[in-house]
Amino acid sequence: MKITVIGTGYVGLVSGVCFAEFGFNVTCVDNNLAKVEALNRGEVPIYEPGLDKLMAKNTQAGRLSFTSDIAKSVKDADIVFIAVGTPSKADGSADLSYVFQAVDDLSATINRDAVLVVKSTVPVGTTKSVKKFLADKGVDIDVAFNPEFLKEGAAIDDFMHPDRVILGVETKKAKKILEQVYRPLYVFNIPIVFTGLETAELSKYASNAFLAMKVTFINEVANLCEACGADVNDVALVMGLDKRIGDKFLQAGPGYGGSCFPKDTSALADFADDFGVKMPLVSETINSNNLRREKMVAKILAACEHKVAGKNIAVLGVTFKANTDDMRDSPSIEIVNELINEGANINIYDPSFSTQAKRMFNNVAWKESVNDACEGADTVIILTDWPEFKALNLKELRSKTNGGLLIDLRNIYPVKEAEAAGFRYCSVGRAFN
Ligand code: UDX
Repeated sequence: MKITVIGTGYVGLVSGVCFAEFGFNVTCVDNNLAKVEALNRGEVPIYEPGLDKLMAKNTQAGRLSFTSDIAKSVKDADIVFIAVGTPSKADGSADLSYVFQAVDDLSATINRDAVLVVKSTVPVGTTKSVKKFLADKGVDIDVAFNPEFLKEGAAIDDFMHPDRVILGVETKKAKKILEQVYRPLYVFNIPIVFTGLETAELSKYASNAFLAMKVTFINEVANLCEACGADVNDVALVMGLDKRIGDKFLQAGPGYGGSCFPKDTSALADFADDFGVKMPLVSETINSNNLRREKMVAKILAACEHKVAGKNIAVLGVTFKANTDDMRDSPSIEIVNELINEGANINIYDPSFSTQAKRMFNNVAWKESVNDACEGADTVIILTDWPEFKALNLKELRSKTNGGLLIDLRNIYPVKEAEAAGFRYCSVGRAFN
């Protein structure tokens, strides 16, 4: 079977590489020529553990290739996936221009027997609009919708061992070919759920919005913990032991960021409104998460007794979460920029050495290690829970710093352990003495 994947972002590239790993013949397409050239040289444009090896293996095996020629790539494809971005427009709605540009670009040459599968996250009704767009050009082919649930930083494992695969289809032909594509997952007994197009489209938004709401809920509980003397880590532990709630996405922190939760919650609220349906829980999740960043800045300033001008602050981790170099909607953007505005001297160490981050902050010093960043610091702030920050020798770290304030917005350490190492330890939803 020949698969074409259009778009080589997180979803497109990981899907293409993993389909090739399943044994299919895959062509990945992108209209960014420089990116395609880099991929053809074996360079992986994103930081994703394990992706480079899998890409090299499948390219060498002759199952995976990259091109910018979309028209040619779809001529003899049996199935074409569209995995281009659907970023937020200024009004919060999803920008579908890349999706329709790709559909337009492939319309003249796509194999009329192929099935066209939308994998990009798109508002309900989009896949049907894609079918109509093609029909209006005289192209009558089957369409389907197949959302992708992979997380950055664990993308390959999530793709290869997903909790479920959702396939929105209208025809037997689309169902049959998608069954073949995902057959390799049947051996792991992974639930494969066939639905209609609208249900599949909404399932993706509902899942992301629910997880965003769960994170936001525990962050609001953390606020209450700080006011009433409870410990949010323990509250989350107790809640998570209830199987109806589950322990995932209950880690309090600086608020969610990344390429999906912020854009998908906004798009869901927006298109629900178009259907005449208000979703106040979703709208309030968005508001609460936006406020969270200001709250984190206020928390840091208060812990520093509002004396940050001219002080040395070491920031550990700036990406929106660990194991990625992605800075999109990272809480660190507002937090670090506000500290710069307040006149602090900022040293940053981020294990991804993110070039996106380097473009984002001016007047900061980039450091090569935790020790480099923390040497002589008045305050150390942990913003991202990278694995290498989880077992720091806190006594040694304390001896490198000048002041003894450790602000940990990811609650990595037990309060007593940080205090025993000589730090004043300020975390989220827990006691601060
Ligand atoms: C998410 C979804 O998990 C994935 O299914 C979807 O396909 C894309 O969006 P991703 O954005 O890669 O994936 O990151 P995720 O691990 O879900 O984290 C999202 C945000 O929530 C991050 O900012 C993270 O730090 C935050 N988060 C997550 C918390 O603050 N606490 C938690 O307990 C979990």
